[in-house]
Amino acid sequence: MPSSISVVVSYAQSLDGRVATATGASRWISCPKSLEYAHVLRRDNDAILVGIGTVLSDDPLLTCRLPNARSPRRIVLDSSLRIPLDSQIVRTASEVPTTVFFDRDAQGVDAARIASRIASLRNHGVEPVPVSRNREGLLLTAVLEQLNAHGLRSVFVEGGPGVITAFLKADLVDELHLVAAPIVIGSGVAAVGELGVATLEQAPRFETVSVSQLGEDLLWLLRKPKHNR
Ligand SMILES: NC(=O)c1ccc[n+]([C@@H]2O[C@H](COP(=O)([O-])OP(=O)(O)OC[C@H]3O[C@@H](n4cnc5c(N)ncnc54)[C@H](OP(=O)(O)O)[C@@H]3O)[C@@H](O)[C@H]2O)c1
Repeated sequence: MPSSISVVVSYAQSLDGRVATATGASRWISCPKSLEYAHVLRRDNDAILVGIGTVLSDDPLLTCRLPNARSPRRIVLDSSLRIPLDSQIVRTASEVPTTVFFDRDAQGVDAARIASRIASLRNHGVEPVPVSRNREGLLLTAVLEQLNAHGLRSVFVEGGPGVITAFLKADLVDELHLVAAPIVIGSGVAAVGELGVATLEQAPRFETVSVSQLGEDLLWLLRKPKHNR
């Protein structure tokens, strides 16, 4: 595991641990102060990472909208290069550095389509980067190594549940900024999916750094325990 890039995860969940309703509606679970806090995390990290699921459902811009702040590199994990050319991320890629990681084996399986997608994305200013994958998805350690090799020292994982779960399962989360909003959604999209935890000893555990209030929401800042860093 690359030791010189830190992984910061943050998501906004309901009191019952949902990040979206059963129909996928997620805007906005958290209050304006929490949304502003997400921009602070964008400003303070070298890259923002999401999975293609978030791009397809929310079409986020993923820039930092704080005054005088630069926007970090945007990273999308997208095995088969499904990212729409008219998505906000692709349309703004000539202004904000953007990398899309995809499955290196997809080039062999679907060569013509992947070659044409790579060319179109490059034309828009996106940097498509092939990486290996395993059964769970693109290899996160390979992604982090590539980012580290390009001089990035921190990555802010902003969702959704697919990538959050994958980073937790791979034990790659250094800091967790959990925003809990005073809303109950019931059946919906869980913030964290299957981790393969059978006993509590196997469950990822964090140390509390602080608990504070962001408007109506609660912000719980957690770190990986020292003995596990
Ligand atoms: N409340 C919040 O803070 C928040 C934040 C973000 C999103 N959301 C919500 O989350 C929902 C989307 O969830 P999602 O799970 O589909 O989004 P996601 O985690 O952003 O994307 C998941 C997709 O990423 C790709 N991927 C590639 N490598 C992966 C890996 N190693 N591990 C996991 N995924 C990998 C997979 O697609 P391929 O196989 O095609 O590559 C996978 O289906 C939406 O409803 C959105 O509104 C909420």
